[in-house]
Amino acid sequence: MDMLIALATLPAAPALPGPHIRKPIGPEHELLIAWIAHHFTPAWASEARAALANRPLTLFIATRGDPSELLGFCSYDATARSFVGPIGVLDTARRTGIGSALLLACLHDMRAMGYGYAVAGAVGAPDFFRHVASAIDIPDSTPGIYAGMLRAPSAAP
Ligand SMILES: CC(C)(COP(=O)(O)OP(=O)(O)OC[C@H]1O[C@@H](n2cnc3c(N)ncnc32)[C@H](O)[C@@H]1OP(=O)(O)O)[C@@H](O)C(=O)NCCC(=O)NCCS
Repeated sequence: MDMLIALATLPAAPALPGPHIRKPIGPEHELLIAWIAHHFTPAWASEARAALANRPLTLFIATRGDPSELLGFCSYDATARSFVGPIGVLDTARRTGIGSALLLACLHDMRAMGYGYAVAGAVGAPDFFRHVASAIDIPDSTPGIYAGMLRAPSAAP
């Protein structure tokens, strides 16, 4: 199911005491893509690659320390224009506000880019999107733009 998010009424992005929310710079791109493929899926790594090719790039990361440790990422305009996601936080760092901060960083960036609404596609954690961004369900949105998508052989039904 896809979900719709109104960007005109977003809550402010929270200031986290520890993690740093920012866009990655060039030397980090390949490490980031490999990290996403390792912790999440090759398809999400492919979407991150698309977001990193956008100008300005449309992906935020959460990092901690120096040298930085990656804690999570969120992209937009990666699956399709106006779509937000994928989003992922390291399992050991969840439920500490990082996912909210990443999602809201992307949504505020989309608002600044001129979008009025964002679509969260094929949502896997709908309550997270409802809670953080007041997302609402889009009826009859499955399979939506994902119909007939190329899939890795191991992921085929
Ligand atoms: C979904 C995800 C990004 C949330 O990241 P997070 O850093 O844990 O999120 P936050 O700590 O900012 O949570 C904010 C609120 O969302 C809710 N929430 C968080 N994860 C949730 C989940 N998986 N399901 C339902 N609600 C969730 C909680 O109510 C939380 O509020 P609380 O702090 O009052 O408990 C993370 O769980 C994740 O990476 N999951 C695996 C990948 C995934 O499913 N991505 C989404 C695909 S659409």
